[in-house]
Amino acid sequence: MGNENKEKALKAFSEYADNFDRNIIEIQLKIDHTYRVADIAERIAGSTGADPEFSWYLGLLHDIARFEQYTKYGTFRDALSVDHAELGADLLFGRERLIDIFSLPALPGASNETGMLIAEKAIRFHNKLTLPEGLDADTRMYCDILRDADKCDIFRVLTEPPYDVRNREIAGSDTPASEEIMAGVMEHRCVSRIYVKNPFESLLGQCCMFFELVYPESIAIVREQGYLEKLIDIPVKNDKMKKQMDLLKQEIRGAYAI
Ligand SMILES: [Fe+2]
Repeated sequence: MGNENKEKALKAFSEYADNFDRNIIEIQLKIDHTYRVADIAERIAGSTGADPEFSWYLGLLHDIARFEQYTKYGTFRDALSVDHAELGADLLFGRERLIDIFSLPALPGASNETGMLIAEKAIRFHNKLTLPEGLDADTRMYCDILRDADKCDIFRVLTEPPYDVRNREIAGSDTPASEEIMAGVMEHRCVSRIYVKNPFESLLGQCCMFFELVYPESIAIVREQGYLEKLIDIPVKNDKMKKQMDLLKQEIRGAYAI
């Protein structure tokens, strides 16, 4: 497989990142996240019959707009700034054609144009709560691989500085989670951010991303890495919260076995 291609793409990525201030911890975090998501996407693809190299590229490119977003708005919160997935897809495949500096490989058995369209959709939809209906099977598969890989690494990000501050805030908070959040836990689905009102709910909501992993290999990766286990082991303050956390643990550990 094209190690040379990957090296070229890594160089292009690194040069692109040089346009931004690498001394800002948030910028550096996104660079690290990018490399990890690329490697995870490659691994998941290897288990699904998808093209590993193409999937690696999706990981490398998926958060390309994060640098511009943070530099311009000082936040990664899309709701307060810009939808970074839409912006990324537009930068790469719109008028600027940023994709041209990365030499995206062709998808075996598909035209260049098809590969480009799949990559564009995978990047555009990687942060959406759900994928749109009516995607063809290949597009859906690459969307799912990228979304799974991104989720796998988010559990790591949430256990490390600066995002681990929130985990410590939970120790000082005694508000249990609302019914809307617990419905996500029980129904094994992601919870919309609009329901998240405190650090404990934020933790539970993020852990629910686990339930939407599509591929068994992604679940295996999350288990192996152990970051989600760290998150669900965070001590909480009162009995109601402990019960809610136990329920989440039970649902997650039950799903490991599937
Ligand atoms: Fe992203």
